[in-house]
Amino acid sequence: MIDKIVMATNNAGKLREVREILSPLGIEVISQREAGVNCNPDENGETFAENAMIKAKAVYEATGLPVIADDSGLCVDFLGGRPGVHSARYAPDGEKCSKLLSEMTDVPQEKRRASFNCTIAYIDDDCSFTVSGECLGYIGYEERGENGFGYDPVFIYGDRTLAEMTAEEKNKISHRGAALKALYAQLKRKVNKDADK
Ligand code: IMP
Repeated sequence: MIDKIVMATNNAGKLREVREILSPLGIEVISQREAGVNCNPDENGETFAENAMIKAKAVYEATGLPVIADDSGLCVDFLGGRPGVHSARYAPDGEKCSKLLSEMTDVPQEKRRASFNCTIAYIDDDCSFTVSGECLGYIGYEERGENGFGYDPVFIYGDRTLAEMTAEEKNKISHRGAALKALYAQLKRKVNKDADK
């Protein structure tokens, strides 16, 4: 029976989203700080899944409780998938979009495809798995919109950037929203199986 999960983050926004999605399952989600853990493992994996599992394992080993951890980033086709797992370190916040636009000057529309990717890893005493979500779009030619964070002002989905959407609109189509839906489905199956035992 899962009644409590530690999320390997102290990010209030991520915690809120995960709490909302898992509350129908009666699962309490606590932050890594609330679990009394202060670890920051080297995220040296080559994929989002590897990095998510590195974070989940570190917190699981420290707490012995079920843990979820996520890793996400932006992959740009023209840049061979960069910045990818290095999205957070690509440039300081506030300079990420301008640096990306400067790498994409004069690149024609049909070569500007990109995706946001998010993988969530889960681990407990008897299983571990990862689920992923993707949001497909392309990189615009300028920054637009005031909402969101990171690369949102240059990532176009449909005819708007993610920074021109409300948080609610973005959650419906985002990589993180898709991964969270997949996580909910997996955990629901697990909770039901445990109840049948
Ligand atoms: P993390 O997995 O939360 O550490 O995210 C890695 C990096 O990817 C962040 O620092 C952002 O720059 C970028 N990123 C991830 N998700 C999003 C998003 O929804 N919008 C904009 N940037 C994002």
